[in-house]
Amino acid sequence: MRQIRTLGLLGTGVIGGGWAARAMHFGIDVVAADVKPQMEQWIREAVANAEPALARLTLAPLPPKGQLSFTTDLHEMARKADFIQENIPEQLELKQRVLADVSRSAPADVIIASSTSGLMPSDLQAKMIAPERLLVGHPFNPVYLLPLVELVGGKQTSPATIEAARKFYTYIGMHALHVRREVPGHLTDRLQEAIWREILHMINEGVATTGELDESIIYGPGLRWAAMGTNLIYHLAGGESGMRHMLHQFGPCLKWPWTKLEAPELTEELIDRMVKGTQEQAGGRSIRELERLRDDYLVAIQQVLRQYNIGAGATLRALEQRLYVDQAAAQSAAGPAGNAALPPLTGEVRPEWIDYNGHMTDSRYQQAFGDALDALCRRVGIDEEYHARVGMYYTVESHTTHHAELRAGEPYYVETRVLAVDDKRLRVFHSLRRTRDAVVAATGEHMHLHVGVGSGKTVAAPAQVRTQLERIRDAEASKPLPPQAGRAIGQPPVRD
Ligand SMILES: NC(=O)c1ccc[n+]([C@@H]2O[C@H](COP(=O)([O-])OP(=O)(O)OC[C@H]3O[C@@H](n4cnc5c(N)ncnc54)[C@H](O)[C@@H]3O)[C@@H](O)[C@H]2O)c1
Repeated sequence: MRQIRTLGLLGTGVIGGGWAARAMHFGIDVVAADVKPQMEQWIREAVANAEPALARLTLAPLPPKGQLSFTTDLHEMARKADFIQENIPEQLELKQRVLADVSRSAPADVIIASSTSGLMPSDLQAKMIAPERLLVGHPFNPVYLLPLVELVGGKQTSPATIEAARKFYTYIGMHALHVRREVPGHLTDRLQEAIWREILHMINEGVATTGELDESIIYGPGLRWAAMGTNLIYHLAGGESGMRHMLHQFGPCLKWPWTKLEAPELTEELIDRMVKGTQEQAGGRSIRELERLRDDYLVAIQQVLRQYNIGAGATLRALEQRLYVDQAAAQSAAGPAGNAALPPLTGEVRPEWIDYNGHMTDSRYQQAFGDALDALCRRVGIDEEYHARVGMYYTVESHTTHHAELRAGEPYYVETRVLAVDDKRLRVFHSLRRTRDAVVAATGEHMHLHVGVGSGKTVAAPAQVRTQLERIRDAEASKPLPPQAGRAIGQPPVRD
């Protein structure tokens, strides 16, 4: 399957906008196509609105942001895209017709995924050219923050299509859940609909308000669901004998008429109650305000789950590892072959790194130096496996000097020198330069100690790591020391 550099979007509403923001954030170009020309402004705003929350999701180094272009010509999009994601309204005949049409312009090795919430892929691919490249890739709103995407193949979908789509979605930070049999509503919407149906019944019967029903979830099951689903949670609820006990104890209740399978009639009165209830819950806050609140807590939850390496937090960790590995690979590729000296680590000052004075804030210099140390470590074989089995370098002393300003969007690069290395110690010097004029904006000098896993004590680094660090040190040993190396703060010590 081809390498995916450009994502084509068919339909640029709520879901198309979310796909654009996610893909561009992780360096993929987007060609967005919609029948309505006014959707160009909408999608540009949607991408801009998503960026503040997305930008806080991870500190891992990101590739340059992807570019967005817009067209009303679906065929132009289909000719340019390496992967197409369809997000037009949920109507089978419309989707069938448009997918068939687009499949005539998209080369046969371009995968076409549908965001459909519940239509069957076998129906969607019926009239397409090369139908084996169609699958359902069902995301969740907001697509740019929720990692889940359900992958569903139809009767004609090839296993290679599912595999290639899984690879692409994982690359842009998602958790691809393969739904093994196509069923209407896939997995998640079937479960969500069951809850929604019960909500409508209880509102209809005047049992509770929309707010009370939401409380019944957010203070209880909702908190559990972020990391463990209903099944594992019920297994825990059954005590030592787990799910078996749970089913013996509560199984018979399932036969009681607690829930109803048929949805209630959507009368005007029921619709009014739902609308009035949710407006009261919104309490005068606009949709945009509520979206920002939702985005903020979705980022925070994923960062907490990351510490436990569970659910969406595990997806985030895996994404970060991939980003660090890619950065190190890009750095190695940039360096001249066979040269032990380190190639510079490149980056760009992201808008959220800016201080109140309009320049890059102090902590981001430490991050840039930390990224450069990480790249150095990876170059000498210190990776996740090494961290888990051997140890890592801890920072024990740092000294930063600042010389010039960096503005939002400015490209920069970090040159790293190994000044000294022995069994346990590693002394590293970084110069962060502005790309536009090669001026040194800041320097960072750090002493690191090699600490063993488990013991938490300083231990000698393995010989092969040391040898490589020595090679890197020796490659620049004939150069004079940078003037800032070994400096302390310039003012004479304060005397009482
Ligand atoms: N909204 C959600 O929460 C959600 C979640 C997951 C999946 N989905 C699915 O995503 C799809 C899109 O949903 P949405 O909420 O973004 O809808 P939407 O109404 O916001 O956007 C649909 C867009 O498609 C465009 N369009 C219509 N006909 C077109 C055509 N022939 N060619 C190109 N563009 C065309 C419209 O102009 C519009 O901009 C649906 O299949 C839906 O089931 C929605």
